[in-house]
Parts: sequence; structure tokens; C-alpha cells
Amino acid sequence: MSLHKEQQLIAIIQLLGQGEFYSGQAIADNLGVSRAYVWKLIQQLQDLGLGIQSVTGKGYRLEHLVELLDGQEIQQLLMAHDIDLRLVTDSTNEALKGEGFAHNRLVIAEYQSAGRGRRGRRWVSPLASNLYWSLGWKTQLPVQQLGGLSLVVGLAIVEALRQLEVTGVELKWPNDIRFQGRKLGGILIELSGDMVGGLQVIIGVGLNVHMSDRVTETIEQDWMNLQELKSGISRQEVLVEIIRQLGVYLEQFEKQGFHTFLDEWQKVDECYNQKVSIIQGDETINGCGAGVDENGAFLLQTGKGMKPVYAGEVSLRLR
Ligand code: BTN
Repeated sequence: MSLHKEQQLIAIIQLLGQGEFYSGQAIADNLGVSRAYVWKLIQQLQDLGLGIQSVTGKGYRLEHLVELLDGQEIQQLLMAHDIDLRLVTDSTNEALKGEGFAHNRLVIAEYQSAGRGRRGRRWVSPLASNLYWSLGWKTQLPVQQLGGLSLVVGLAIVEALRQLEVTGVELKWPNDIRFQGRKLGGILIELSGDMVGGLQVIIGVGLNVHMSDRVTETIEQDWMNLQELKSGISRQEVLVEIIRQLGVYLEQFEKQGFHTFLDEWQKVDECYNQKVSIIQGDETINGCGAGVDENGAFLLQTGKGMKPVYAGEVSLRLR
């Protein structure tokens, strides 16, 4: 999408975001374009998942109040990071791959056309509803020590939410952020580029904030919005608090290792002492969740003893 088009779409969202009806002609005058073109832009916003009401004789209005993220303000609040806020992108993880990678570069999008979840799933990413971001993190840790990284990212998110008075959020190994069994968000960690002089890690996070039901028919899991836990919660505040907390936790992880987070993990481990199944290809192993080891591997208590399970292509289900 051209920058010019993006700016036109942002201008419409800002105009309609004031909560009043605007006629097609008024929008056209405001943007200096034709009414027919406004109609096309409105269609495009609807295709991106934005709820726009259209009432004959009155014009257009947003179904819900929409506050776009403010890149400049985020940059001021997170000085150590290089903020790249986009209205539309394919996937923020993709944007950090190869040449796009830089340590502490934070790519944020209001919409992802090809958002990806773990195990090849699609991540539904409607416009201006949730948080979608990826952080570039260069580390000297060897790849074998990164097993606990997604858990540490999850813990930083839980702690940031707690700071914002959202409590009771739990983690389902290895990458789900949940509340009473419903998914609030997920973490997708990928490695990028050549490994000389340290690993290039991409930490991608999607967090549901106020996503409408209209766009979620394809989501297989039971999900929920952060807004249900704290009404009116600001996406921007949540984002900034998480990135701050993540900086602290990543430093601790790199310097002191995952074992220093074991107690914290146990407090929010949704599977602890629960009957679970591990599914790996055609094989299913049943057992009971017994926490994680000092490398972040899931511990499954089976009839034949304790079995450590490593993330990758495995799926964990609560029974
Ligand atoms: C999962 O639970 O399966 C992980 C979901 C991760 C989604 C985020 S949204 C931002 C970043 N960009 C992507 O394409 N995916 C991650």
C-alpha cells in the first residue's frame, strides 16, 4: 500500500473516530478527493476489519471509538528502541527478517494481511483492534539456551499487565497468554539471518484488546479480549508497559539464565497439576503437568516417569 493511501485511510479513521456521522461528500472535501474515491477507501477500511456504519442520509460513522497508536509518542516513551509503526503490513515478524533485522527495532502494525501463529496457523489481525508487534533481539546466548525464551516473554507480559491492574492472567506452555482457559494472545519466536556474532531473534507477539466477533469465525480456539478484564484499557499503554518490562526480563534471562524465573513461572503455569496431552505428529502422550525444567522444557509426569518435552512441533492440550 502506498504511503499516500495509508495517510488517506488514517485521515478517515481520525475523522470518523470523533464519533459523529460524516457524509461521503464531507469526507471527500476534507481529503480533497472525489466521493467515488471515498467510497473505495471506506470499502478498503471495512475489508481490513474496521466496523463502519453507513446510514442513508447521514453518512458514515465508526461502530466503536478507535484510537490509533501514536508512533511519535511511543518513540518518546521507549527511547532505547527504534520504533517502526505501520498501518498495514504482511507480518511484523516478516518485516524483521534478513535485512530488516536490527537489535531493539520494534515493528508494530495496526493490521497484518498475513499474520502468522505457531505451527503454520494464521493469526487474525483486524485493523486497530489489537496489538501486533515484533522485537529484534540480538543475543550472545547459544541456541540451546533459548528454550525458555518464549516463557520469559510470557512472564514479562503477565507482569506488565499486573502493573496495569489486570490480574489472573496465566501462561500455557510454551507460548499462550490465557485467562481462565481462553486465549488472550500468543508469542511467535523465530531466528533470522546468519548466526555470526550472535543470534538474531525475532520476538513476535499478538494480543487481543478489543477485537470484534465479526472477524473471528476462523479462530479455532476459545479466545477473549483484554478489554473484558479491564474496560477501556489503552492499547498504547499496554504496549509500552510490555516493552519496558520485556527489556528488564530479557536482560535477566541473558545474564542469569531461565532458572531464575522458575518460581515466577510456577505461579502462572496453567497446566501445573492438570491432566494434559502432548501431541507430536501421530503420537499422543497423556500425563500430568509438573512445571518446567531449568531449560524451559515442559515436564510431563507419565505412568513411566517424568518426561521433558521440548517446544517445536508439539501441541499441548488440557484434558
Ligand atoms: C500463536 O499463538 O500461535 C502465536 C501468535 C503470534 C502472533 C504475532 S502477531 C505479531 C507477530 N507477527 C506475526 O505474523 N505473528 C506474530
